[in-house]
Amino acid sequence: MAGADHISVLLQESLQALAVGPGGRYVDGTTGAGGHARAILEMSAPGGQLLGLDADPDSLAVARQNLAGYEGSFLLVNENFSNMEAVCRARDFYPVNGIILDLGLASMQLTASGRGFSFQHEAPLDMRFSPSQKVSAAEIINTYSETEIADIIWRYGEERRSRIIARRIVEARPLKTTTQLAELLVKAIGRHGDIHPATRTFQALRIAVNKELTRLESTLEQAVSLLGFSGRLVVISYHSLEDRIVKQFLQRESSDCICPVDLPECRCGHAARLRLLNKKVITPADAELRANPRSRSARLRAAERILSRRENEVSLSEHFFLNMTKDEDNVSDRHCLEAGTPTLCAPGLTPLKGRSKM
Ligand SMILES: C[S@@+](CC[C@H](N)C(=O)[O-])C[C@H]1O[C@@H](n2cnc3c(N)ncnc32)[C@H](O)[C@@H]1O
Repeated sequence: MAGADHISVLLQESLQALAVGPGGRYVDGTTGAGGHARAILEMSAPGGQLLGLDADPDSLAVARQNLAGYEGSFLLVNENFSNMEAVCRARDFYPVNGIILDLGLASMQLTASGRGFSFQHEAPLDMRFSPSQKVSAAEIINTYSETEIADIIWRYGEERRSRIIARRIVEARPLKTTTQLAELLVKAIGRHGDIHPATRTFQALRIAVNKELTRLESTLEQAVSLLGFSGRLVVISYHSLEDRIVKQFLQRESSDCICPVDLPECRCGHAARLRLLNKKVITPADAELRANPRSRSARLRAAERILSRRENEVSLSEHFFLNMTKDEDNVSDRHCLEAGTPTLCAPGLTPLKGRSKM
């Protein structure tokens, strides 16, 4: 398989959370090597359709090869997932049964792209997912002020030593390659603990270059608007900043009131549009961790589109109800993701196997 060094993370858990079924319509916002996409197409046959996005044209080229045999059932679009709603609406690809976001990088981007994502491989300091983006890591490193660089490293890398790192960068610039920057970081802060001294700074630069957090926030909102009734949203994140955004978004959208706790009565008028499928985050089971150590930071959260109390009172287009009638509550192919706690599931939902933690 092309791009075979990428092993899809939490694959079975994702398919189960998406409740993939024959004839369903799915969006993969982060197609990568096409591993999740291929499994979705397999499970949704006959009649399943998938629209796959990726900001990186090279990833889509790998995915296209890996989706061989499913031509006619998928469409790959080289776009940032922050344009998901416009892309889907322009192609009349909504409402959908499920949307998956498997954030971050595919293995081939780390090891072979020459795009500067990894401090272990010599490459220009680029880090753009898409060559059409304007700002690269080199531009940040070589033209931003010391304070701006320190703020990026602090905010997106949660690096305590951001100020000293920024000072050393400004003293040493111009810096052109990943290894130049990695060596500077080793000298600036030394080796402490398990993680390499370049890890947090590289993460911070990648997030800043690709505006990852703001794009994720806007995409979650768009995803909900594309889901049909009982459609599923599944997000796999790889660091705490992403996971916090996903967790807070899902919590808010599954609450009927988001007023501050000290308000005596509800004034927000907020109406839940989602139901959480896992209160505790799903992480890879031991077997997956052994087979794919890169999965160690993965955290899956999932939710299902419900009718909000406001939508319950108005008549919605039949289109929204996908293949169901409004009153139908067919739970036969649904799953509860509370591993080991089936009592939290509605009757008829199958508990998902795996590990879960907060
Ligand atoms: C972890 S990989 C996905 C792997 C895929 N699920 C598989 O099984 O092969 C993440 C992919 O998302 C893409 N990506 C990251 N952020 C993106 C964004 N904002 N818009 C579109 N694609 C993005 C990356 O280019 C990368 O190819």
